[in-house]
Amino acid sequence: MNSRPIGVFDSGVGGLSVLGALRAELPAEDFIYLADAGFAPYGERGDSYVIERTRTVVQRLVQEDRVKALVIACNTATAAAIHLVRAEYPQLPLVGVEPALKPAVALSKTRRVGVIGTRGTLASAKVRTLHDSLKDQAEFVFQPCDGLADAIQNDDTAQIATLCARYIEVLGPFGTQSGQIDTLVLGCTHYPFAQHVLQALVGETVQLIETGEPIARQTRRLLEAGMLLKNEGMGSVTLLTTGEPGQLRSAAARWLSL
Ligand code: DGL
Repeated sequence: MNSRPIGVFDSGVGGLSVLGALRAELPAEDFIYLADAGFAPYGERGDSYVIERTRTVVQRLVQEDRVKALVIACNTATAAAIHLVRAEYPQLPLVGVEPALKPAVALSKTRRVGVIGTRGTLASAKVRTLHDSLKDQAEFVFQPCDGLADAIQNDDTAQIATLCARYIEVLGPFGTQSGQIDTLVLGCTHYPFAQHVLQALVGETVQLIETGEPIARQTRRLLEAGMLLKNEGMGSVTLLTTGEPGQLRSAAARWLSL
């Protein structure tokens, strides 16, 4: 059992930002990364579409690839479907990602936090509940970024720059003075790959928060609890996609040196 792989799934290349943290935390583990790029983006397509795709992909990873644990490295799929996956596979160690609102509250000094993500994630009941539990501690400004995950997926540099500038301008002002946003939550796993563009727009004093490391630590905890940890040997990564294989391969080579 311990030698079986861990499944990691996203609509596309975004989950590679989580895979990088998982490999650093769990170097002996084997990973199967599945990008559902033939059916991406998820963010603007509505819950029933995302639920159907998530179920299909998870079924494949569990039944064909026989993963011992699963990381849904996609905020949109987590928000729409993790409760259903949990109900369908109650024995499977399962980790999802959600926008890091709580860590942002701890970090923000101005108590004004920006949150960017897909339309699906930011409109979800999961994020609404999270927001409700924290809104007396900070003021959150939410901005859905239609098209941004897709631009990152397609490595369209010009479109990434245009969309980041547009959404950051709507969210602002950014800075460390009272009334300014000093903490920006990257609520989509694609966005860390536009981090340099976003950081240049908001300025160096603003903290950008992503979720890769806490997700990796949580995955370790679940594996330990289930006595499923693989401690020895060098782990491997298998890349699978429902889209264009070259796109995933070159993203993995560029961002993870795979
Ligand atoms: N990377 C995904 C997320 O974290 C979704 C991007 C998309 O397909 O719209 O939400």
